[in-house]
Amino acid sequence: MNTAPDTATRWERAREWIGQGVAVVDTPSLVIDLDAMDRNLARMAAFATERGLRLRPHAKMHKSAELARLQVAHGAVGVCVQKTDEALALAHAGAHDILITNEVIAPHKLRRLAQAVRDLPTRFGLVVDSALGVARLADALAEAGVRGEHRIDVYIEIDVGHGRCGVAPGEASVVLAHSILANPVLHFAGLQAYHGAAQHRRLPAERAQAIGEAAWTAALARERLQAGGFSVPLITGAGTGTFVLEASSRVWGELQAGSYLFMDADYAQNEPAPQAPVFEHALFVKSQV
Ligand SMILES: Cc1ncc(COP(=O)(O)O)c(C=O)c1O
Repeated sequence: MNTAPDTATRWERAREWIGQGVAVVDTPSLVIDLDAMDRNLARMAAFATERGLRLRPHAKMHKSAELARLQVAHGAVGVCVQKTDEALALAHAGAHDILITNEVIAPHKLRRLAQAVRDLPTRFGLVVDSALGVARLADALAEAGVRGEHRIDVYIEIDVGHGRCGVAPGEASVVLAHSILANPVLHFAGLQAYHGAAQHRRLPAERAQAIGEAAWTAALARERLQAGGFSVPLITGAGTGTFVLEASSRVWGELQAGSYLFMDADYAQNEPAPQAPVFEHALFVKSQV
């Protein structure tokens, strides 16, 4: 006998709870406070618009096509994801512009991405920090039969202090830019400069120091590339802990903050920077003991 719960029925039951008080929600459930989420959505959208910056929220936080659509409806240029499969799931659900903010190096993952570039109308982007990464991406696209100009946006990741991924400004990024431009299917879209380690530093001064250094490094990387004859269309990065700093730096043109939509408990421990928009907790677990 099949004892698996009827997920369609559970989903329909959950849909009926939307808009009703939390008292009707069964346990255990993940509960979104839609009013709080809408305010977070609007505050970040207004912040980016007022400063003339592109907003590309990180969707790894929600992994939801519906929420990605909502963010785009509020002015986001697209979304970020962390993994190939997140990108493919959102693309199949209709997301029109997706940047994978991690280096993808495994040939089988690049093959799946290349097939999506070939078959779907979505605009994809990927970050690289090695010649191997560029070569494998180019091979996967060729194997999938992807042709034409500028079929995927490629960003060079600069290590701006996180020590996780990325190259140093200077020779390494110039060499990578050469290899990207050598392949017409690849579009050199700019730099990714994300300082993850700065996001949860508690004091505004600590975060300001880290992002000040990151800004200096990212600007230097851009300068070196420009001196080598490359145009650098965009620098993308920033998270919920520091985006106010990147926004005022005149270095970044696109903000990738994601957690602001639900606002996690740890971020609430950060002492807020002056003039930072206030975000409210919007995601809860309802449970019963
Ligand atoms: C590259 C990149 N950009 C942006 C973000 C978004 O940060 P947050 O969810 O803290 O706003 C992350 C989070 O890890 C990230 O790795």
